[in-house]
Amino acid sequence: MTELMRAAMHDRFGGPEVLYVREVPRPVPGPGEVLVRVRAISVNGGELAARAGRVRLVTGRKFPQRTGLDFAGEVAALASPTPDLAVGDRVWGIMPRTAGFGAAAEYVVVRPRQLARYPASLDPTAAAALPVGTTAITALRDKARLRPGERLLVRGAAGGVGNVVVQLGKARGAHVTGLARADNLDLVRGLGADEVLDYRTTSTSDLGRYDVVVDTVGADLPAYRRLLTPAGRMVTIAFDLDRVAASLGYILGSTVLGGRRVRFFSGNPKTALFTDLASYVDKGMVRPVVDTVFPLAEIGAAHAALEAGGVRGKYVVQID
Ligand SMILES: NC(=O)c1ccc[n+]([C@@H]2O[C@H](COP(=O)([O-])OP(=O)(O)OC[C@H]3O[C@@H](n4cnc5c(N)ncnc54)[C@H](OP(=O)(O)O)[C@@H]3O)[C@@H](O)[C@H]2O)c1
Repeated sequence: MTELMRAAMHDRFGGPEVLYVREVPRPVPGPGEVLVRVRAISVNGGELAARAGRVRLVTGRKFPQRTGLDFAGEVAALASPTPDLAVGDRVWGIMPRTAGFGAAAEYVVVRPRQLARYPASLDPTAAAALPVGTTAITALRDKARLRPGERLLVRGAAGGVGNVVVQLGKARGAHVTGLARADNLDLVRGLGADEVLDYRTTSTSDLGRYDVVVDTVGADLPAYRRLLTPAGRMVTIAFDLDRVAASLGYILGSTVLGGRRVRFFSGNPKTALFTDLASYVDKGMVRPVVDTVFPLAEIGAAHAALEAGGVRGKYVVQID
């Protein structure tokens, strides 16, 4: 008999109200795959765009569509013996790019390379706030190669990715300036930022020069690139969804037109990166920042909250 599980999905593009939870067949792991019992997920900026139908080239137009990208839970079954992984291990991970969304469910099936064990100091709701922190590691360590003493500017400093960029930037010895809304400046300062500024009342002409700019917003890239020192590096993880072609054209153009190029990447983190993330947590360099925890039945409210603006870290959705 097919076993069932609860999963969040939508049958059309639209606002948060299109999301609903229903029973679907529980996935069965194939050879080399892992069945994970999901305990919590978080809501990512990119998922709002997917649900709203703003990235149809990525999501396609077939329904129902699932939601949920990152997860924290435990290994429920291994289809074949897997080194370093046992049933019951508490793991975090991100759905592979090829699988699309679907983590907002009681179970997911992934390859072992998509996950790693998370630190014992975290409970699943806290752990679910951090998998996307791998994006911060890639941006700062691997793309910008941030060095101690450098000046770092973070746009979106209170958001899901931005809050980890601030923490990691500080832990790696940078002088960190965070841009966030006024209500969240206290949070960003508490995460270690040396300077905090309200993005709604600060123009780029009010800002100084930076060795590294990490942008999680995607709009107005040229203005922020102009803040770079001659050897400065800018990393953006987002682009302007209202001007996709122009944004991508600008990023690509910056790679051939002189220095200070803008680097973009699309994260698809694997075990080694999740393990690095865990070690940053173990060393006290990064901690999860959970704004509010919603039950799965209220995943639409979690999307609505993120869409409304003002998130402090992460909205987490608890699956059980
Ligand atoms: N390339 C990749 O691998 C990758 C990985 C993860 C995420 N992303 C993308 O990165 C973006 C951010 O994701 P996220 O999950 O961190 O989203 P998020 O949690 O919604 O955070 C976005 C943050 O940006 C702030 N913000 C909005 N407009 C701003 C502005 N004009 N100036 C400064 N800050 C501004 C928001 O602040 P308020 O809400 O207070 O206004 C919020 O704190 C999304 O587009 C997502 O798709 C890309």
